[in-house]
Amino acid sequence: MRLESKMADTYCLPSYYLSLMSTKYMTETIHQKFPKAYDNINEATRLSGFTMASDVLTCSLLRTLASSKPNGKFLELGTGTGLSTAWILDGMDEASTLTSIDNDPKFLEIAQSFLEMDKRLQLTCADGGEWVESHKNQKYDYIFADTWHGKYLLLNEVLSMLTKGGLYIVDDMLPQPNWPDGHHEKAINLIGQLENREDLSLTKQVWATGIIVAVKK
Ligand SMILES: C[S@@+](CC[C@H](N)C(=O)[O-])C[C@H]1O[C@@H](n2cnc3c(N)ncnc32)[C@H](O)[C@@H]1O
Repeated sequence: MRLESKMADTYCLPSYYLSLMSTKYMTETIHQKFPKAYDNINEATRLSGFTMASDVLTCSLLRTLASSKPNGKFLELGTGTGLSTAWILDGMDEASTLTSIDNDPKFLEIAQSFLEMDKRLQLTCADGGEWVESHKNQKYDYIFADTWHGKYLLLNEVLSMLTKGGLYIVDDMLPQPNWPDGHHEKAINLIGQLENREDLSLTKQVWATGIIVAVKK
């Protein structure tokens, strides 16, 4: 708005022309640089046949939010091939650390081959349930829950791992073509559970694949 009024003052552009200009620039296109490893991981993901990759808009939001937690302890449940991992790392500062869990060694290997040189990252091959049960006393400033655990299973345990002011992020909350029967009900139930919690401030974004960002009060 400020830019528009300044330009209007300067160039005396009619407001309908300015509104056309803001529509042109205010788009979903990501103009900032993608993480270095992204193209390679994306190509390896395509070749691997992995079908659950995070959407690039979600990844961009993950990076933006990661930058809000300097010196942060980050947790990702569901590494996949490391697409979202690469974006989270790209938003983190040098003093931050990210632990990322997945139970599928084939896909984790792709993440590992492109990201293991980043000393801030710890990739762990484990069952999400077992891992959460044995780490539930740990605290994190940022949790991206992108598998069953921390989303549809062990939700309370994972939310209790958030620090005050910590971010909890889930995607794929809008109906997805690969949802199995009965998944709609699970998603509706999760939204209700999150909204009913008095220790979270949250916003549902009907954008990308449907994202909920919550902050622990
Ligand atoms: C939606 S995908 C993750 C996508 C990834 N974040 C990305 O950016 O592409 C969900 C992941 O959960 C993993 N997964 C499924 N069951 C699991 C379990 N019991 N424990 C740990 N990971 C599991 C799958 O292997 C899969 O990689």
